Amino acid sequence: MCGIVGYIGPNQAAPFLIEGLTKLEYRGYDSAGIAVFDGEKINVEKSVGRLGALTQIIEQKQPQGCLGIGHTRWATHGRPSDANSHPHTDCTGKFVVVHNGIIENYMTLKEKLIAKGHIFKSETDTEVVAHLFEESYEGDFEAAVKKVLAQIEGSYALVFMTQLEPDKIICTKQDNPLVIGLGQGENFIASDIPAIINRTRKTYILSDGEMAIVTKDSVWVQNRQGVPVTKKVFEVNWDAEAAEKGGYEHFMIKEIYEQPKAIRETLTGRFNKDDSAVVFETLKWTKEELLKIKKIAIVACGTAYHAGIVGKYYLENLARIPVEVDVASEFRYRSPLIDEETLTIVVSQSGETLDTLAGLKEAKRLGSKTLAVTNVVGSSIAREADQVIYTWAGPEIAVASTKAYTTQLIVMFLFGLYMAGIREMLPKERIKELIAGARNLPAQAHELLENVDPIKTFAQKYGFNEDVFFIGRALDYCVALEGSLKLKEISYIHAEAYAAGELKHGTLALIIEGVPVIALATQEDVYEKTLSNIKEVKARDAVVIGIALEGDDQIDKYVDHAIHIPRADKYLAPILAVIPLQLLAYYAAKTRGCDVDKPRNLAKSVTVE
Ligand code: G6P
Repeated sequence: MCGIVGYIGPNQAAPFLIEGLTKLEYRGYDSAGIAVFDGEKINVEKSVGRLGALTQIIEQKQPQGCLGIGHTRWATHGRPSDANSHPHTDCTGKFVVVHNGIIENYMTLKEKLIAKGHIFKSETDTEVVAHLFEESYEGDFEAAVKKVLAQIEGSYALVFMTQLEPDKIICTKQDNPLVIGLGQGENFIASDIPAIINRTRKTYILSDGEMAIVTKDSVWVQNRQGVPVTKKVFEVNWDAEAAEKGGYEHFMIKEIYEQPKAIRETLTGRFNKDDSAVVFETLKWTKEELLKIKKIAIVACGTAYHAGIVGKYYLENLARIPVEVDVASEFRYRSPLIDEETLTIVVSQSGETLDTLAGLKEAKRLGSKTLAVTNVVGSSIAREADQVIYTWAGPEIAVASTKAYTTQLIVMFLFGLYMAGIREMLPKERIKELIAGARNLPAQAHELLENVDPIKTFAQKYGFNEDVFFIGRALDYCVALEGSLKLKEISYIHAEAYAAGELKHGTLALIIEGVPVIALATQEDVYEKTLSNIKEVKARDAVVIGIALEGDDQIDKYVDHAIHIPRADKYLAPILAVIPLQLLAYYAAKTRGCDVDKPRNLAKSVTVE
């Protein structure tokens, strides 16, 4: 996720660009930059670090000009640095772009452009777009952009400008947001409404495949086929704070709804051509080195620890390699049996959690290979680990982690499949089947999020109970752990997760009339056994909410309410099953009037022991 802005009109561009980027900093904040046309040439200023670093440069240099574009970055390809910051330019500096998204085929394009003599200054995927723009320009800005778009694959919101035609900006989008603010004799472009809300409330919201030619007096939109599109003006009536949350009431619910996109981005570029193997471009270990790994240790805290527990299932079941999972604050105090034949995977959304970082250092000290799974490029954990796999969830602001968790599961699943491939533990056909299943997940998550009313109703009905139990077996148990954490951390309801088969060893004593039990039953191998456990709690008059696969009618006979999730492979079902639990926690917290985004006593990033 990154933030982009553009301005064309009679006024100075830089003040709007900086103001707009400030409002978009929630979309990314590891570096920023602007490009302004001064009447003769385009001047680009950029800087690594928070926006403040760029603002200081702009205050000193005062770039003059009434046409400009800007960007605040959340690194994906290439670490945060001045060179990797946007805007990106071609070899001549006459063609400039800013981009939010991922150009999937950038490596192939880059090789071709280098062969033609183009000189690259950054490690980003975006820079290919600037060079393609230069390569495609033959005196017609619009035609050049169309040629560029015909060559790139992936997700993008892109804004183009060139000093050769400084009377317009061209922008387009595919899978990433872009809005145009309609002013009087001036127009604004931004990733999101907060950036323009102080300037205008009249907007066009671009749809996928649309391209807009924006001058100071006009906005002309066409679709991918070049057919003109008559856009309806969307009048924004949110206040500035609501606008930052994209119209949602809280960041948590916004981030829950961002999951289809976050999952899709995390899957992007991670399969070979015929979808028969997982590839990790950034992993530099050879097959021989990976085959020497005899054991995996996973170390993490909080929600990331729960993703680690799912990771253990994936790695042990798919790749048949032994895995231990530790809470990071325990790991280094228990003399772990780690050596050079161990791979230690640390999982951390922020990449800054002190205990996880310390666990990573301890594993290194013991000679282990180390791999970080993190959401923040250039974070301490990303820098310290030997190798990194990023979750591409974009910045997560709510304290309760949601999209980071589902994308961590995606990475653990992909890494399980990758290791299964290396260790030749799964037939190719099964790998293909699982990859096809993974590709369905964004659409399935979207489908789930379309029908939340029953979950809202349960949350309102049971939100005032003081105890809630979550049960499940196998991967369902792992998801139960996360569901219970979500509920307790934001609604302050006492919640416990139990392996369903363990109930009779004590916990059943706590199940009395009216106690809500959330029973996960998505794992076909243990389905009948889970049903028996559901019967056990029903016999004690618990109120049972079952989470089961679509088409499972049997469950409805045993539970009080059933929530059906789209049918998915047993390894992929957890990624969907957690979504109703996140929603349940969210609506329960709302029912109880809790501060959802900032739960009491908790912090987003814990950098103390
Ligand atoms: C805090 C947050 C949790 C998070 C945990 C680990 O407790 O509130 O949401 O799961 O830290 O954070 P990390 O950034 O390492 O994933």
